[in-house]
Amino acid sequence: MKKTAISTLVLFIISLFSFSTVLASEKDAPTFIGVKKCGMCHKKDATGNQLKIWKDAKHSQAFKTLQSEEADKIAAEKGFKTKAAETPECLACHTTGHDLDAAMLGKNFKIEEGVQCETCHGAGSKYKSKKIMKDQAKSIANGLVEFKDEAAIKELCVTCHNDKSPTAKEFDFAKSWDEIKHPVPTK
Ligand code: HEC
Ligand code: HEC
Ligand code: HEC
Ligand code: HEC
Repeated sequence: MKKTAISTLVLFIISLFSFSTVLASEKDAPTFIGVKKCGMCHKKDATGNQLKIWKDAKHSQAFKTLQSEEADKIAAEKGFKTKAAETPECLACHTTGHDLDAAMLGKNFKIEEGVQCETCHGAGSKYKSKKIMKDQAKSIANGLVEFKDEAAIKELCVTCHNDKSPTAKEFDFAKSWDEIKHPVPTK
């Protein structure tokens, strides 16, 4: 009896601690700022115009694709009662943020931007300043996702490019990466 009382107390204290860490980490978590903000500094040809490369490729259209008749048909065939653009299972790979608390989304963030900069690079509110961005280590410390090598990049792609996609095509990493990569030109 005594033993149970003590372990209940211990459990209670542990839960208090973990509750407060959850609160603290949510408060400190970086927020998603949207393509417009990233694009402000990443639209010069001299530094690779990542904004244009993204706009001209399919990821920027991923939400729009869900608004098509074809998409609604696929959703219905899968047994969903909602339109594709309102179906969480579709939004999961075609957008960022549909399942996030509104507090995590900055005022310029738009779910309509589909698979966007921060889908791959991480929420940017803390690394977006020029001073931090110029320093890779500082950017990473402030939430920029680090890719150690090509294998790590491929790992990111196949979180969506896999056979859970109702229209899945075979994913050729080298070819696909070549289509969407957006490097800063080396001088
Ligand atoms: C105030 C300007 C500014 C904003 C806003 C900004 N960046 Fe940057 N970013 C830079 C600069 C400057 C560099 C250094 C490389 C260069 O000269 O392009 C950089 C570098 C990067 C790099 C390469 C980091 C590395 O060294 O590996 C990535 C990735 C990146 N930015 C993504 C983003 C994303 C995503 C956003 C929006 C969340 C964003 N940036 C917003 C200025 C900015
Ligand atoms: C968050 C999910 C997600 C991630 C991560 C992702 N993609 Fe995609 N990708 C999509 C979706 C959704 C489409 C379809 C967009 C459309 O057609 O509307 C797509 C389309 C593409 C296309 C256009 C050709 C095609 O197959 O339709 C290429 C190329 C591509 N992705 C490459 C990549 C590469 C390379 C990576 C990794 C660096 C990657 N993607 C990471 C979701 C993702
Ligand atoms: C596991 C991630 C994933 C999920 C879940 C997902 N998609 Fe996609 N979707 C993709 C990717 C990646 C592409 C582009 C390459 C491909 O078709 O394999 C794509 C492409 C599409 C396309 C364009 C097809 C084409 O041939 O260009 C449509 C339409 C589509 N998806 C509708 C849906 C609908 C509707 C749902 C929900 C029922 C859904 N997707 C769920 C990842 C996903
Ligand atoms: C589908 C995922 C994906 C999307 C969407 C995406 N990026 Fe990237 N980006 C990557 C990957 C992967 C790399 C390579 C990182 C590396 O080589 O370390 C990269 C590299 C970069 C670099 C550094 C290039 C260099 O040569 O150092 C910049 C800057 C950048 N992205 C900015 C952006 C901006 C701005 C957007 C939105 C307009 C964007 N990215 C959208 C995945 C993505």
